Amino acid sequence: MGSNLDHIYPVFDKMLPREAKEELLGQRGAVIWMYGLSGSGKSTLANLLERRLHEQGKMVKVLDGDNVRSGLNSNLGFSDEDRLENIRRVAEVAKLFADSGIVTVTSFITPNNELRALAREVIGDEDLLEVYVKASFETCAERDPKGLYAKVKAGEVKQFTGKDSAFEEPTRPDLTIDTEALSEDEALEQLLSVVFATIDQKIS
Ligand code: ADX
Repeated sequence: MGSNLDHIYPVFDKMLPREAKEELLGQRGAVIWMYGLSGSGKSTLANLLERRLHEQGKMVKVLDGDNVRSGLNSNLGFSDEDRLENIRRVAEVAKLFADSGIVTVTSFITPNNELRALAREVIGDEDLLEVYVKASFETCAERDPKGLYAKVKAGEVKQFTGKDSAFEEPTRPDLTIDTEALSEDEALEQLLSVVFATIDQKIS
């Protein structure tokens, strides 16, 4: 996928600055990047987090793998190249939301450290909280909320993460939430305490 920046003239300094949006909303923009295997609990936690932050008066947007792949990224599959393009686009979109003062929660497998580093590079250290939602392949296969693992077993899904497409353990998540060890409520509380600390730190 080539890009040609030869005749492109980006202008950022004439636009209303991020601070004006943040002042309007009374919050700082940030990206909570949640990753882990399919069925690990990312989307469930992302949606619970969105509701709780919303109740606290925060403007939040969830970007979720299955949703984004049915729209913006509907031309992408699950090859290494397509996963990279998926994460690159989502990171750019998350950055746009954060630049508008919105707390953005992403829920994508993000299967290896190269992709996690790419997201960090696009979004920037100061705006990113990296959350690994941890559960083993076996546990995810048992939960099988979408019936996908059964299809994988029947040979109907190729390039499946954790099976014939690798999932690399993260080296530097800001937070790991072990959904095998914690109940849904406990996982949410753990996530909330770190997210609030991060957002409040950013606001003051
Ligand atoms: S990522 O690897 O590029 O980050 P993403 O989070 O967008 O993946 O999409 C994962 C979702 O797509 C899964 O939750 C699952 O519902 C669906 N899916 C369909 N095929 C696959 C596959 N081969 N591997 C992983 N997930 C798949």
